[in-house]
Amino acid sequence: MSNNANSQKNKIVFDGKELELKTLSGTVGPSVLDIRSLYSDLGIFTYDPGYGSTGSCESAITYIDGEEGVLLHRGYPIDQLADNSSFLEVAYLLLNGELPKKDEKTEFENAITLHTMVHEQLINFYRGFRRDAHPMAIMVGVVGALSSFYPDSTNINDPYERMVSSRRLIAKIPTIAAMAYKYSLGQPFNYPQNDLTYAENFLHMCFSVPAEKYKIDPIISKAMDKILILHADHEQNASTSTVRISGSSGANPFACIAAGIASLWGPAHGGANEAVLKMLSEIGDVSRIGEYVNKAKDKNDPFRLFGFGHRVYKNYDPRAAVMRVSCHEVLNLLGIKNDPLLEIAMELEKIALNDEYFIEKKLYPNVDFYSGIILKAMGFPTDMFTVLFAVARTVGWVAQWNEMITDPVQRIGRPRQLYTGYQKRDFINLDKR
Ligand code: SDX
Repeated sequence: MSNNANSQKNKIVFDGKELELKTLSGTVGPSVLDIRSLYSDLGIFTYDPGYGSTGSCESAITYIDGEEGVLLHRGYPIDQLADNSSFLEVAYLLLNGELPKKDEKTEFENAITLHTMVHEQLINFYRGFRRDAHPMAIMVGVVGALSSFYPDSTNINDPYERMVSSRRLIAKIPTIAAMAYKYSLGQPFNYPQNDLTYAENFLHMCFSVPAEKYKIDPIISKAMDKILILHADHEQNASTSTVRISGSSGANPFACIAAGIASLWGPAHGGANEAVLKMLSEIGDVSRIGEYVNKAKDKNDPFRLFGFGHRVYKNYDPRAAVMRVSCHEVLNLLGIKNDPLLEIAMELEKIALNDEYFIEKKLYPNVDFYSGIILKAMGFPTDMFTVLFAVARTVGWVAQWNEMITDPVQRIGRPRQLYTGYQKRDFINLDKR
């Protein structure tokens, strides 16, 4: 909870009028300046494109110290969660604030498992997409369409309905994602199997075919679970802020998560994992890395090294550190000794981390740099990478959406602007233009 401090120290003077602004302190991290009365008292707005200096909400879910490369979910460091927990346990933690006790864990896992099937009629939506549709396009459409199947859980003012819709979303998103993949292959959809774990079930729905028995490799399902944990939440990133601002109008949760998926798709955000793989393939050989690093540094060239840089991290992304180790483990265990793309990735990382430009701008590999390499090794095509991110992030979106709905200070998100268009002018009739 926030508390006020130093209110007398923050004086702002504008147009001869003086205003004292309070500082609000969280439990850890920098304090924030409370500017809520700025417009009503002084008649001015702040200007902060990209919101680099703006806190949009109070949140107790995730904490990031970008300078130190720290990521905590409900206080627990991400590496400890990745090593010791499971995705559904982390989901419970994000949603409820505490790690589940034994009976709570069983109840939650059962509840998610019992909601994994989708309405049979939903299949018709898939048939309406072109066979070569990007699976993220399918995700945006189908998740949005869920609201028409579950009108009972769209009453956002009822805590029970909020809980049911949250669980439905977490349970059904792997089924919807796997169906998008199967549709692109022209293979039959697989029904979920409730005796499997969340990660195992997802692998089964993606990779098994009715004609053969599918054996889930425990190493792969463990790695998949870790990938899901590492992507589960990341405070007020673009897609989460999209979910919050969509939800602030009272829109139903299925529509809000569809909006989050749309935002995640962009290559500057979750779409970067797909873009990294395309970039590594385009580089093609270690000898060409220098050329691409120079392109990324050239102000006149729009090219950027995908998988590098982050708005908040000015240090190694702690998720990338876990993912890097996991990436080597998976490739070793799968017997992929000399993956040319991994070789390029390793060399690129080395060169970029030692380059003056990247050092000065504090550009480090982010979570998307390694995830694509692991997912490729597991057999996922590149256009499924961001879909996997969306499956995991649904938990974070749902947790943040619930927190927003129950926040007493929450109101509709409505930023203002610096208007640079015409001043008032009179209409000109067509014959005079
Ligand atoms: C995710 O926010 C989150 O939490 C997101 C995320 C999550 O879990 O939700 O962590 C997931 O989205 C990871 C980021 C994936 N995106 C990429 O890998 C794409 C490549 N990276 C960037 O385009 C960029 O670094 C961003 C979008 C991630 C961050 O953008 P910012 O904070 O607006 O920073 P910027 O673009 O203003 O860059 C600052 C400077 C610029 O140079 P100058 O104008 O100051 O001279 O650094 C340069 C940029 O040109 N720069 C890069 C670069 N990233 C930034 N130069 C070369 N290659 C890069 N990748």
